[in-house]
Formats: sequence, structure tokens, C-alpha cells
Amino acid sequence: MLSVTDFIASLPKAELHIHIEGSLEPEMMFALAQRNGVSLPYDSVEAIRAAYSFSNLQDFLDLYYQGMSVLREEQDFYDLTRAYLSRVAADGVKHVEVFFDPQAHTARGVAFETVLDGIHRALADGERQLGITAKLILCFLRHLPAEDALVTLEQAMDHRDRIVGVGLDSSENGYPPELFVEVFAKARAAGFRAVAHAGEEGPPAYVRGALEALQVDRIDHGNRALEDEALVAELAERQMPLTVCPLSNLRLCGVTDMKKHPLKTMLDKGLFVTLNSDDPSYFGGYVNDNYRAVQQALGLSDAVLAEIARNSFAASFLDDEAKAARIAEVDAYVNGG
Ligand code: ADE
Ligand code: ZN
Repeated sequence: MLSVTDFIASLPKAELHIHIEGSLEPEMMFALAQRNGVSLPYDSVEAIRAAYSFSNLQDFLDLYYQGMSVLREEQDFYDLTRAYLSRVAADGVKHVEVFFDPQAHTARGVAFETVLDGIHRALADGERQLGITAKLILCFLRHLPAEDALVTLEQAMDHRDRIVGVGLDSSENGYPPELFVEVFAKARAAGFRAVAHAGEEGPPAYVRGALEALQVDRIDHGNRALEDEALVAELAERQMPLTVCPLSNLRLCGVTDMKKHPLKTMLDKGLFVTLNSDDPSYFGGYVNDNYRAVQQALGLSDAVLAEIARNSFAASFLDDEAKAARIAEVDAYVNGG
């Protein structure tokens, strides 16, 4: 009989909510700053880590955008992505759907293709070398005008073979989903899948907006949906996947104590949840740290953890055959084989 920690360690799983720029560890940030001659307002790796104390989403985003200024060359995006994949290979991760924020790079004069080529080359190497399948999701920054998102979508149109979907991230409050109706409609018409951050800090109406105005396939976070009973019933009825990120919620003060995390309530209400890291380098843990944190705080059984792992594949953008094969791996693992 495995301990629950060992059970989580090798449980086959997918990660569906990971901002690749949020996997930039302080050591790599420091090294890339030197490699590229970029100055940072820190004189050591320890000073960078010490700065990671946040009261809300915006506090974090300010450091997140500052940190990614060290990413300039294709090789930087490759190194970042390849390091993330090596790290999660040790966590039993078999499939990843990775967010990237092209507008945060093109605004600094880094070409869209430089970003995409570097990330994609690492994903291809990761698949060959580590057996981790991967898909890429382009996120629009919601604090920027919708016209900028349309320009970014145009840039993505030539790369539909390498980008599976579009998402919506950055500062939530004050930037409702409805602002992005046009760009999401165009993206969906072009064959992109759609996801959006909603209900991380924003109200339940933003979750409803993501469902109705943006027609998303998944909701990223979704915590505040719990404030609206009718919305919860609809999410449960539709089995709409939520990509929940417990350590992120704790670090951004959406929850004050992991014992109060809404995951248990979400499960009890029949919601379709997955567990993810969001920005692992900034929030103190990768995907297995998130599984362990909620298991310890909420006392989840192996059966529930396995169900969440199955959900992670079922909610992915893999085809049905690949989903079934990965879910069978979870079943075999649970049954001791
Ligand atoms: N960009 C990176 N991480 C994010 C988060 N947790 N919420 C919104 N935008 C983000
Ligand atoms: Zn996120």
C-alpha cells in the first residue's frame, strides 16, 4: 500500500493551467538577465524569491511581467519550456496544455515567431525525450484593448497547426469577458478551442460571461462561481471543466487557509474539477505540490485524487482515443499495475 504522497507522486495526470512564463524560476531569471544584459531590481536569487509576497492578483502580475523581461531570444523560450517539462516529468505528468502571453513579449519588441518557435521546439523535444504530449494555448491579456487581441489573433492565424486554442488572462476585475466577444468568435470560427480565466477574483457574472459570450470549453479557476447557486447548477449540469489552482489561490489571498479551499465544496456539488499549478515558480509549487496541499488540508482519498487525474485527461484537448488511453493508465495505476 502506497502512502498518499507516493500515490500522488506517480499518479498519471495532465496539467491544463500553467502559464509558461510563470514557471520561470529565480535561478533561470538571474542567468537569463546576465546572458541578455537585462537589468533586474534584485542582486541575488534569494532577493528575487524574497519579493514573492502578494496580497492579490495585481501584486503578482506586476512581478510576473517584470520577471519575463529577461526572455528575449528563441533559446530563452526554449530553455524555459524545456525546464518546465523536465520538472513535471518527475511529477507523473503525461500531458500538458501550456498558456503563453505573446502580447507581453511583442510589446517589448520580441517577435511573435521568436516566442512561438522557442516554446514549440521545447514541446516537441519534450514529447520525444520525455513522452509528455503537449498543446499550446495563446492567452490574450485582458487589461489591454480588444483591438490588440485582434492583432494578436491575426498573428496566430498562420500557426494554427501549433496553437490549439485561445485563452484570456491578466487583471480580471474591471475587464469582463464581454469585451472580447469578437476576438473569441473569430478564433472559434477559425478552429481554435477557447478557455478563459473567470471567477479567480472576478464575480460570478464573469464566469457566466465566459460561458455565454465567449463560449469557452473550460473555465480557468472558477472559484467565485460558488457564490451563485444557479450558475453552480449549470456548471455541474454541463460538466464544464474548471482548472483549479489551490496554491495560487492561497498565495494571491483568494483563500486564507488551505483548509478553507473551495475544492471540497466544488466536488460535493458535482463540479468537474482538475488540479493545476498556474504559475509554479511564483506560488511555491508544481502540480504535485497542489495535489498534496489539498489532500493534506481537505483529507481527499486516493479514489478522489484518481478521479481528479482522470478529469485532467477528460477535460484536455486530446482526441478521444488519446484521452481513453491516458485514463486507462490512471485505472491501471489505481489497480496496482
Ligand atoms: N497570468 C499569469 N497568471 C495569471 C493568473 N493567475 N490570473 C490571471 N492572469 C495570469
Ligand atoms: Zn492562470
